[in-house]
Amino acid sequence: MKIVFATGNSGKLREASEILGEGFELVTPADFGITEDIPETGKTLRANSLQKAQYLYEKCGCDCFADDTGLEVDALGGAPGVYTARYAGDDKDFNRNMDKVLYELQSLETSAHMAEEFGLKTKPVSRRARFKSVVTLIIGGRIQMFEGTLEGVIAREKSGNGGFGYDPIFIADEYPGQTLADITEEQKNEISHRGKALRAMAAWLKSNK
Ligand code: IMP
Repeated sequence: MKIVFATGNSGKLREASEILGEGFELVTPADFGITEDIPETGKTLRANSLQKAQYLYEKCGCDCFADDTGLEVDALGGAPGVYTARYAGDDKDFNRNMDKVLYELQSLETSAHMAEEFGLKTKPVSRRARFKSVVTLIIGGRIQMFEGTLEGVIAREKSGNGGFGYDPIFIADEYPGQTLADITEEQKNEISHRGKALRAMAAWLKSNK
């Protein structure tokens, strides 16, 4: 089936095409001459995912889906969360975003270490984190949402050349010692937040044709 994916992110598009496979022909807003940034002003991933899909549906009136993804780091109180794309600034620079997360965790660890040196009892700083994806599908004007989560930890430094976004600092529980940028795209898609959400969407489409 032909369906529009509300993204301008080439990494997301490549992964979604691989995950959904041959039965889907993905086209992008740019193919409809929609080149502006699709607004995402919501306070949750669900709100942003819905906003992106609805914006596109209003513009093109065609079957479409959107994905909104966030990284939640426990020690940072769930940040960057809904601000994942712009964590270090509006330019959405993924290297600076990753540096900010690494720096904040390192600072917490240094503070905990210093507190211990002064004889204070501290809990070890957790590096536990997860990616969450919310996919909103609009088909025949009907809205369906699908979610996927990938659990892991934040690495101490960046590693790997694959993937995109925060992949070089995220170690999934399934591949200890390797970041998502170290493993193959196939391995990432099999376990990823986006893989889970999009496979759920494909299964729904199959049983609701
Ligand atoms: P959005 O869903 O396009 O708003 O993306 C939010 C942020 O998460 C962007 O900085 C993306 O680069 C990043 N991101 C989205 N999906 C992934 C992923 O699978 N791995 C790493 N970073 C991601």
